[in-house]
Amino acid sequence: MIYEHTYEMVTDDLFVRLPRMAPGCEVFLKIEGLNPAGSVKLKTALSLVEDAEHRGVLTPGARVIESSSGNLGIALSSICATKGYAFTCVVDPNTNATSMDHMRALGAEVVVVDTVDANGGFLQSRIAHIRRRVEADPAMVWLNQYANPANPHAHYAQTASTLLKELQHIDYLFVGAGSTGTFVGCSRYLREFSPETRIVAVDAVGSVIFGAPPGPRLIPGIGASRIPELFEPGLADDVVLVAEEDAVRECRLLARTHGLLVGGSTGSVLAAIRRYADGFPAGSRIAAISPDLGERYLGTVYNDAWVKEHLGALA
Ligand SMILES: Cc1ncc(COP(=O)(O)O)c(C=O)c1O
Repeated sequence: MIYEHTYEMVTDDLFVRLPRMAPGCEVFLKIEGLNPAGSVKLKTALSLVEDAEHRGVLTPGARVIESSSGNLGIALSSICATKGYAFTCVVDPNTNATSMDHMRALGAEVVVVDTVDANGGFLQSRIAHIRRRVEADPAMVWLNQYANPANPHAHYAQTASTLLKELQHIDYLFVGAGSTGTFVGCSRYLREFSPETRIVAVDAVGSVIFGAPPGPRLIPGIGASRIPELFEPGLADDVVLVAEEDAVRECRLLARTHGLLVGGSTGSVLAAIRRYADGFPAGSRIAAISPDLGERYLGTVYNDAWVKEHLGALA
């Protein structure tokens, strides 16, 4: 297959069965990490950029600015390099060093904001930094993944429609929340075209999205220290909050049992399925979204010394 641009190489139809996750049920993991940007955020990034182009706010030679925990930044770096836009990515200390190097190699400016916000995270500080930059240079275009309908639209139009097309019938969908674009887009689509699907939102302990108390978090991508504007709480049938040690344990177990390295947020989703495992009716078809793969986390999730230092001995 020949593509004209790297950003078109979206692999939306890859699923792997996880036969040992929930006995008596079928579990399918949707693999989003096998594209040139390495994550589900390639679809989000392309949707945000094309929407800004269609609205006429993004014109040749413009500078794009966006806040990211890493993956959206990599995807936007790649798209902006191809389309000829300058790009500034505002990240925080939880962003992997290799992700920052990846963005810089693609020509992006990377700004690390390390001021802890009132909820123990960095998102409010990252956004405050962007507001200051845009005020100083009104020509900068902030795509704003947290409030932009083009974010969930990517997952309504692609991620969820592919899920239903490939799996035909879905009893449960387990989906993580960060900007909540994947959750909102997939939930809206399934409410419309598969109303029998139960949607289980997965968030991190310490994230405030679903109203839980704030706290420090280390795994990038999942959770937020500020509720995104595009979040719609009524879309979830249930919410599971996962502690980081449980997410890491699942990642490491999957590696040893299924030969697959996944990112920390996939571990959270798997931990949520395991918590549910006894409650699934026999024969249930369960889908889970894996936003990225694990190579980016070799120095953290899969590194014994890092795990021991930050999470202690895993049971
Ligand atoms: C690894 C990872 N998992 C989960 C998410 C959450 O996806 P969303 O922002 O669509 O809620 C992200 C978002 O950046 C991510 O990078």
